[in-house]
Amino acid sequence: MGRVIFQAKQICKSYPGTIALDHVDFTAYAGSVNILVGENGAGKSTLMKIIAGAVQPTEGQLLLDGEPVAFATPTEAAEKGVGIVYQELDLCPNMTVAENIFLGHEPVKHGVINRQHQDDVTRHVLDRLDHKIDPDQVVGELGVSTQQIVAIAKALRRDAKVLIMDEPTSALSAGEVETLFRLIRDLKAQGVAIIYISHRLEELIEIGDYITVLRDGKISAHAEMDGLDIPWILRQMLGDTKLDVPHHGAEPSVDPILSVRNLSLPHTDSGAKVDNVSFDVKAGEIVGLFGLMGAGRTELLECLMGLHPEASGQVELAGETLGARLGVEQRIDRGMMLIPEDRQAAGIVQTMTLGENISLANLTRYERFGWLPRNFGARDVASTIKELAIKATSAAQMITTLSGGNQQKAIVGKALLIRPRLLLMDEPGRGIDVKAKAEIFTIMNRLATEGIGILFVSSEMKEIVALADRTLVMSEGRITAELARGKYDENDLMVSAARAREAV
Ligand SMILES: Nc1ncnc2c1ncn2[C@@H]1O[C@H](COP(=O)(O)OP(=O)(O)OP(=O)(O)O)[C@@H](O)[C@H]1O
Ligand SMILES: [Mg+2]
Repeated sequence: MGRVIFQAKQICKSYPGTIALDHVDFTAYAGSVNILVGENGAGKSTLMKIIAGAVQPTEGQLLLDGEPVAFATPTEAAEKGVGIVYQELDLCPNMTVAENIFLGHEPVKHGVINRQHQDDVTRHVLDRLDHKIDPDQVVGELGVSTQQIVAIAKALRRDAKVLIMDEPTSALSAGEVETLFRLIRDLKAQGVAIIYISHRLEELIEIGDYITVLRDGKISAHAEMDGLDIPWILRQMLGDTKLDVPHHGAEPSVDPILSVRNLSLPHTDSGAKVDNVSFDVKAGEIVGLFGLMGAGRTELLECLMGLHPEASGQVELAGETLGARLGVEQRIDRGMMLIPEDRQAAGIVQTMTLGENISLANLTRYERFGWLPRNFGARDVASTIKELAIKATSAAQMITTLSGGNQQKAIVGKALLIRPRLLLMDEPGRGIDVKAKAEIFTIMNRLATEGIGILFVSSEMKEIVALADRTLVMSEGRITAELARGKYDENDLMVSAARAREAV
């Protein structure tokens, strides 16, 4: 066993109607990766926010290097060497990369902020992360995965003894995950205790030294990782719940529900583009869209949804041409729906409850004679909460107080309620626990058998192979390969995406 650097003892945290943490003990070892895993809403982020001084426990004690500590603020925790990368990235979109990294700790020289120093340190930290990001770029213009790198850089700016990463890889591609893992190994070698949260179980096996499992606010296991496997983790997380997503097996119809010809979008702020793309999605077909980061997958979905009026080319939905200027609302009316990648920013209305967020896009459907019944959509909301097993005290709970994964389930639930003809999903499994993922995939399969066409982006090759009837591989804005179900595996996918990039 390694040296214990941090301990949380008998931590309790209650919120009105919820006990988020119930007498939790947690230990982090120096020079190790300490995994924390559990279902959506199990209490992981709450525990980490307590350790990092962002939330105060109702009861319990924290020990750093054996000494009792109490952090009133995250700044106090950072000063003692406890850093955190939050699940919901806490970056200011209208500030630059360097300003974000130094926010609240600006280096001052002769009474003014020393921008040169700020930029130099930023560049140095980003180099260490193997990322060439311009320190002067405004963060809001960056894609989600780049923002995640910036958030990690921010936590790394100060030398941390304990570094908490709450789902750091949820928006990263396979290559970026490797880069992050290399960095984690470096930090380990320097004696840093990493606390690592993820729903990608393969990752935990690869990188973890110790594992703690939370289940409904209580510890269900703590062990050394050596020799443990995914079935063991699942048993600790779920008990005996079965996870199985059979493929829908139905033949898609021959009629395309979506027909795309020569779609192009010049370079966007994020640098990605769509370059003369043509393909169809049939009614009842699930089409996967795979590619490395920056391949243009998100941009392609955004073009289809009408978010880029400057895009050129033809898009037909069920035989009807959608002009480039046709807005998002009109596309929703015609039966198209997008579940975006950055669900925090694009998906939820922060000032509303869970129920309001789920029924939001359906308002017109519930409207009767120009006014809204008080409990509009209550039945749909209730069935969504039940079907997706959203953990909340009630539909009246504010969406922002739900755990990260449960907020995501709500957004997915909202889109599914619309019963669109074509569903565009950008990383539908991101940040969602294994059980919920299986539930969402089952729903996707069911929708396909009902004749809905689905085009989904995923960076997880397993998801693509399991779900897609057909997969399009994208690279540098172009579709470079098409793979038929049953004729490829994860390895072929990776090779295909990498080779395409070299060729382009
Ligand atoms: N500010 C708050 N007010 C009310 N309830 C809260 C608040 N913050 C968290 N909770 C509740 O505490 C429980 C634990 O949430 P937490 O965010 O710690 O889960 P998690 O394990 O991080 O889940 P996920 O994997 O989805 O991110 C949830 O039921 C959540 O709704
Ligand atoms: Mg969380």
